[in-house]
Amino acid sequence: MLTGQIEIIQASAYLFASILFILSLGGLSSQESAKRGVLYGMAGMFIAIASTILGLLGKGVGADAYTYIGVSIAVASVVGIIVARKVEMTGMPQLVAILHSFVGLAAVLVGYGSYMDHMEKMLDTNFALSHGGAEHIIHLVEVFIGVFIGMITFIGSIIAWGKLDGKIRSKPLILPARHAINGLMLSACFVLGYLFCMAGTVDDGMLYLYIMTAVATYIGFMMVMAIGGADMPVVVSMLNSYSGWAAAAAGFMLGNDLLIVTGALVGSSGAILSIIMCDAMNRSFISVISGGFGDTPVASGDGPAIEGEVTATNHTETAELLKSANSIVIVPGYGMAVAKAQYPIHDMVQKLQKQGKKVCFAIHPVAGRLPGHMNVLLAEANVSYDIVLEMDEVNDDLPETDVVMVIGANDIVNPGALENPSSPIYGMPVIEAWNAKQVIVMKRSMAVGYAGVQNPLFFKDNTDMLYGDAKDSVDKINAELM
Ligand code: TAP
Repeated sequence: MLTGQIEIIQASAYLFASILFILSLGGLSSQESAKRGVLYGMAGMFIAIASTILGLLGKGVGADAYTYIGVSIAVASVVGIIVARKVEMTGMPQLVAILHSFVGLAAVLVGYGSYMDHMEKMLDTNFALSHGGAEHIIHLVEVFIGVFIGMITFIGSIIAWGKLDGKIRSKPLILPARHAINGLMLSACFVLGYLFCMAGTVDDGMLYLYIMTAVATYIGFMMVMAIGGADMPVVVSMLNSYSGWAAAAAGFMLGNDLLIVTGALVGSSGAILSIIMCDAMNRSFISVISGGFGDTPVASGDGPAIEGEVTATNHTETAELLKSANSIVIVPGYGMAVAKAQYPIHDMVQKLQKQGKKVCFAIHPVAGRLPGHMNVLLAEANVSYDIVLEMDEVNDDLPETDVVMVIGANDIVNPGALENPSSPIYGMPVIEAWNAKQVIVMKRSMAVGYAGVQNPLFFKDNTDMLYGDAKDSVDKINAELM
């Protein structure tokens, strides 16, 4: 095939793959279409790899290159399949974190290779005449920024993986004057960037690149070490964004349009997700990424004293209440994930539906510890998507609801978020469970949730506590619902 024809086929394939990636992101926005979204993504990636290999034909690459590519793809596919089959749902954040580190490392290696290759070509006088000047400097800036973002992503993701996996302590590591030190390091990178662009030899250029890589290693390490374990989901989403920008930078270095588009899609969607997560937690994005939060519970603040008395109930009474109710809303939280209660909850829902009751789930955007945590667990237990509703779809109907069952949730049903300006979660939208006629809260004790604040819902007249492990409690209720 002629080089020109290959270029046209490749450009069309890249455009098609970009569209598939956009459709994939769109598909992932709801549970019903998520599988389709994943298939679009897989098809897009297949086309991307195939057309990139096809593009090599036009560049007259030797047979050796195809052997290396074939072996790499085979090894990576085997490793990918084994890891994906082995990983538990609870290990997903770690897997995502470590995969981001690969993107970062790839950007660093592409940067080194691209610089050496470019400089070798510059030694050719003709090339220097045609590609010198502004284009040369732009390429060097691309390399420098790509390696910088790539190294921060690589190291930051490894630390995030270590913290999530319990290999590195989750307590934030706060150095005195860390912001000043980080500022100094960043300024050093600007100076190194200038020296790199002005370097006369490959050796000098590589030296500046290596020094900057060491500085970026320090920045990436300190940035994630300063963040507490509980804030890791936001950090993983932020590193997802960085990995996208690192890929986009690699795309610029390699002159690969598809990599630029895909990197920008990942970079911007990761950034949007981080901001949505922070908004839903009523936290400032800057305060999360500047660290020092998320390990220990937040101080509760001086709020008005909680009025009312806590009343407890038992499984038999709860089952009777459910039998007499017409409409039931279930609010799952982090405790459902801990107890793995989603399977008996699905059985309970089926029993109640058979008795003609209207049952649905109300999902808070940050219920649990991951975006979509509850949705994934409920889907795993085969709960029908059409009864899994978002907080905003349910809140208005709660005054007409007979029973709200809060299963292992705490902060996301805390009225203090609306009523108590001194509460650390004040301003966070919550599921207004207390508006229902009767509320049952299943948890093991009166212990606080993630935000470390007591919950006035537990003290309300229309709330009863059902103490115990959520799975155990739902199993016992199911036995009574026979
Ligand atoms: P939490 O407020 O953390 O409350 C969970 C409750 O589950 C705890 O109070 C605990 O009480 C109970 N629990 C634990 N194990 C249990 C078990 N085996 N059986 C029954 N109950 C159990 O969770 P939430 O209401 O889902 O709110 C999520 C919180 O995490 C929010 O503050 C949110 O901002 C934060 N966060 C979320 C994310 C994302 S993206 N989802 C990311 C970072 C932080 P007991 O110990 O008394 O049982």
